[in-house]
Amino acid sequence: MVAASGSGSRDGWSSRTAFVLAAIGSAVGLGNLVRFPAEAAQNGGGAFVVFYIACIVLIGLPVLLSETLIGRHGQSSATVSVRRMAEQSGAPKAWEGIAALGVLGSTMILAFYCVIGGWVVNYIWLFFNDLIQSGVMGGALPGMSGEDIAAIFPSLLEDGMTMSVLDLIFLGLTFYFVARGVSSGIEVMATWLMPAFFILLLGITVYGAFGGAFSETLTYLFTFDFSKLTGPVMLAAVGQAFFSLSLGMAGMITYGSYVGRNVNLAGTSAIIASADTAVALIAGLCIFPIVLAAGLSTDGGLGLMFDTLPHAFQSMPAGSLVGLAFFIMVGFAALTSSVALMEVPTAWAMEKFQARRLPCATIIGLIVLVLGTLSAYSLNTLSGFHPLGFIPLFEGQGIFDVLDGMTAKLLMPIGALLICIFVGWVADPKLIDDENGLTGALHLFWRFLVRYLCPVALAAILVVGLFPDLVSA
Ligand code: PFF
Repeated sequence: MVAASGSGSRDGWSSRTAFVLAAIGSAVGLGNLVRFPAEAAQNGGGAFVVFYIACIVLIGLPVLLSETLIGRHGQSSATVSVRRMAEQSGAPKAWEGIAALGVLGSTMILAFYCVIGGWVVNYIWLFFNDLIQSGVMGGALPGMSGEDIAAIFPSLLEDGMTMSVLDLIFLGLTFYFVARGVSSGIEVMATWLMPAFFILLLGITVYGAFGGAFSETLTYLFTFDFSKLTGPVMLAAVGQAFFSLSLGMAGMITYGSYVGRNVNLAGTSAIIASADTAVALIAGLCIFPIVLAAGLSTDGGLGLMFDTLPHAFQSMPAGSLVGLAFFIMVGFAALTSSVALMEVPTAWAMEKFQARRLPCATIIGLIVLVLGTLSAYSLNTLSGFHPLGFIPLFEGQGIFDVLDGMTAKLLMPIGALLICIFVGWVADPKLIDDENGLTGALHLFWRFLVRYLCPVALAAILVVGLFPDLVSA
C-alpha cells in the first residue's frame, strides 16, 4: 500500500495506528525487559523511577518529536531528510552526517542485538521442548538439577557455532519482514506482534502477581531511596531513556518519514513514549514477583533473564508454559526492534544507490551476519581479540562489547546531541513549527528543552561515557 505519506509512489504506513504500533515496537525491546527493571531496583527504586520518567518527558520526548518531524518533513531516508531540511534552512548539507552516524550505529546495534535475539530463540526452543515433554501443569525443566540449569547460559556463550546459527535464524526473520517493505512487511508484523506482546505481558504479570511475591516486588521496586540517586545513576537513567526510545540512531527519522501529513506528531510521540515507559514498569512487575517468590537473586544484567528466570520457572506451577510464553514475548519485543534497526540502513541504501529493497536488505543482512558471527565468537574463541584495544575506552573488549559500548556511549549520545542542535539552533523554525503540531506555552517549552536542557544532558552523558573516572559511583 502506498502511504498516507503522500509522496507519490513511496511506501509508507497505511494509518496512524500502524505508525504508532511500529514505533512502539521499535522502542519496546530488550532495553525495557532486561535493563530497566534491574536498574530501577538497584538504583533507588521509586526515586529512580520518578527520575527516569522525568528524563523521558523532558529529554526523550522532545528528541523523539525532533526526529519524527525531520523524517516527516523530508519524506526520504534519514540522510536525505536531514539534508533537505538543512538546505531549506540555508545550512550546509554536511548536517546529513548526523543521520549517516545513525545508519552506521543502527547497523552496529543490529549485529549484537540479533545475537541476543538468537539466545531468545534458544530459550523458546528449550521451553517448547520442555512443554511437550513435561506437560502443562508441572514446573519447568523437571529432570534438571540447579547446576544443570545454571550451566545452560554459560554453555551457550561458550558455543560460537550454535550462537551463530541462532543469530542467523533471528536475523533471517528480521530480514524477511524488512524485505517485504514498510506497509506489507514491517507494518503487518507490528500490527500482529505488538498486541500479542501486550497480551502476553499482561497475562504473565497477572499470573505472577497471584502466584508470586507481588507485594514484596512493590516494596522492592518502588521504595524511594534518594540516597542511591547519585550522578552516575542519573546519567545512566538518561542513557537508558534514550536507548529505550530508540533515539539518536536515525530510526525514528526513518519511521517518521513514512508518516502522513495528517498525523499530529506531538500527540503521537507522547503516546509512543508513554507506552514504552509503561512497558518498562510492567516488565518490573512481571519479572520480580517470579524471581522473588523463588528466593533468587535479583541482580541485573542479561543473567537475570537468561539464567535466573529459568531457575524460577522450575519452581512455578505451569512453569514450562510460562517460560515459553515469556520468551516468545521477549522474542516479539526484540524482533519489532531489530526490524526498526534494519530498516534504517536499508532505506538509506535504497535511496543512495537508487536500488530495490531486496538487494539492499540482502547486502545489509550479509554485513550484519558477518559482524554478528564475529560478535558471537568474541564471547569465546575470539575473546582475546580486542579490535580497538589501543583506545582506553575499549581496552580489553571483544567485538560484542565494542559494538555495544561504541553505540551506547558514543554514537547514540552524539547523534541525539547533534539532532537537538540541528532542530533547536540550525533548522529554520518555520519548517519545524509546520511539522510539530505544538502551539502556545507548550511550543515555547518544547523549544526551550530542545535548545538548552537536552543538549546539556546529552553532553553530560557523553563526557561521563568517555571519561568515567570523572565521576565516581
Ligand atoms: N529501543 C530498543 C530497546 O529498548 O531494546 C533498542 C533500540 C531499537 C535502540 C532501535 C535503537 C534503535 F534504533
